[in-house]
Amino acid sequence: MIIAIDGGACTGKSTIAKLLAERMDYLHINSGMFFRQISWLMLSNNINADNYTLNLNKIKCILERYTFSSNSMTDKELKSQAVGDFGSILAQIPIVRKKVSDELHSVASQKNVIIDGRDIGTTEFPNADFKFYFIVDIQERAKRLAKERMYDETEENLRKCQDELLKRDYEDMHRKISPLRKASDVIEIDGTNMSINEIVNQLCKIICD
Ligand code: C5P
Repeated sequence: MIIAIDGGACTGKSTIAKLLAERMDYLHINSGMFFRQISWLMLSNNINADNYTLNLNKIKCILERYTFSSNSMTDKELKSQAVGDFGSILAQIPIVRKKVSDELHSVASQKNVIIDGRDIGTTEFPNADFKFYFIVDIQERAKRLAKERMYDETEENLRKCQDELLKRDYEDMHRKISPLRKASDVIEIDGTNMSINEIVNQLCKIICD
């Protein structure tokens, strides 16, 4: 059984997917974290947004030796803006996407999974048993990002967070390979005015009824 949850950054995908997986006794896979792991790995090998195009062979060699389960990075490191921004750039490279895709399909072939990401119900698992697409108002998403980063909720900080999210959405939606898009057969969930529990209950009801 495969449940796919797609949507932009800070729309609650991972939080909901994790809780839903606990409730249903499924495995939760946060595919964005795989791209973040690869981003962290490349940055720690001195590959960055300025030089990655000159280092595609090095990227390939590093990927060949890497196993996702062996990661030693902390969530705080992976959640940083620098890691997220470069992860979004790396996510446009076919060998990077293939590395993540192979891992997703390998795990999903063995277990019941709930996978969240950008292209799970479109490119990766178009025939998933259930496909959801999360949307949330941009002001609310900016508040969530500010909270995650432990910024004060000042107008300036919220604007900074909003700009970062809009930039990430634009890049994820306009890239050539596996762009973020809403498949025609997804169930859209607008979480702007819903609590986490309400969303988990709604998804549970749709899946179990
Ligand atoms: O979800 P999160 O913000 O952690 O993802 C980081 C980046 O990884 C996204 O901005 C996106 O560019 C990329 N990503 C992707 N496909 C996925 C999940 C994440 O391209 N399935």
